[in-house]
Amino acid sequence: MFRWVVGGGGKCHHTGPNFSGGLQSHYVLNSGDKIPSVALGVWKAAPGEVGQAVKTALDAGYKHIDGAWIYRNEAEVGKALKESGVPREDIWITSKLWNTFHAPEDVEPILDESLAKLGTDYLDLYLVHWPVATKKDGTYYDKELTADPYPTWQKLEEMVAKGKVRNIGVSNFNVRRIQNLTANPLKIQPAVNQVEINYFLPQPELVQWSKESGILLEAYSPLGSDRRVSDSLNVPVVKEIAKELDMTPAEVIISWHVQRGTIVLPKSVTPSRIVENIHLTKLPDELFEKLEKAATSHPPERGSNPSKSWGLDFDIFE
Ligand SMILES: NC(=O)c1ccc[n+]([C@@H]2O[C@H](COP(=O)([O-])OP(=O)(O)OC[C@H]3O[C@@H](n4cnc5c(N)ncnc54)[C@H](OP(=O)(O)O)[C@@H]3O)[C@@H](O)[C@H]2O)c1
Repeated sequence: MFRWVVGGGGKCHHTGPNFSGGLQSHYVLNSGDKIPSVALGVWKAAPGEVGQAVKTALDAGYKHIDGAWIYRNEAEVGKALKESGVPREDIWITSKLWNTFHAPEDVEPILDESLAKLGTDYLDLYLVHWPVATKKDGTYYDKELTADPYPTWQKLEEMVAKGKVRNIGVSNFNVRRIQNLTANPLKIQPAVNQVEINYFLPQPELVQWSKESGILLEAYSPLGSDRRVSDSLNVPVVKEIAKELDMTPAEVIISWHVQRGTIVLPKSVTPSRIVENIHLTKLPDELFEKLEKAATSHPPERGSNPSKSWGLDFDIFE
């Protein structure tokens, strides 16, 4: 289970780095750890850009970086974290186990590689990036480990016991896949599930189920990713609410995510946007409901589904 902590208060959203605009500044996980509600996402943050983005984010008050081994930028992220001078314990670092390394014997070496690159001896959160395991020869897919992720999970539990990871979770798992995992005698339940959630794919049923099941959702591509960010920011109801509350469209969307009870992971390498994306403000109930209704009343459109490009004979999300 996790619980909400309401931080901040008041209406002004330009007050300072720790101000959470009446929305929860973090959630408390089962482990007792407090995970900050907003993270800087670093997927597609290019070499030469990502380090500066991390430093700008830390200066702006971010305390949470969402990365992954496959983003291939952990060394530059680690260097920026070190150079920032921010104490390690003040930053929440998430990384993810790539599909190639689900075999139990592969987990610790690749985790060690992420730790070394990030320049830390522990991760706050380590996620199974996709519910799909690659075969040893690098092709898709290992049917056994994909059908039954328990051996991989047991290794992750061992990494927690060793102190290399504080919390473990999953990403891109639907309810059926989570239940398939949790049907095993787990020592540690998945703390979070990181999935695509945005205006075009708001996933209200998954949000509800996850709350009831004590699994915290993390919203990836919260602005619609690079492909649809401009569509998101131009949704009429988003623009109307922004105008009414003297906020920017991005602030409205990011606040809506946290108000729905999820973590939000906006990615940007643009300094002004990085600063903008951490300005949370609680939307008045009627405006929150208006946006929720608009987001949930059109057919859902998923932006990210690599099932076909990976040559899978099943759909990851079915
Ligand atoms: N677990 C998974 O499988 C998975 C999959 C996808 C993403 N993620 C995580 O989620 C994070 C975010 O997802 P994402 O990168 O797909 O999408 P996103 O955060 O929805 O969108 C990023 C795009 O929006 C632009 N942007 C950001 N803030 C803006 C603002 N205030 N105004 C205008 N444009 C803005 C960025 O441009 P600039 O950078 O040029 O400013 C970039 O093009 C990733 O970095 C990663 O950490 C995880």
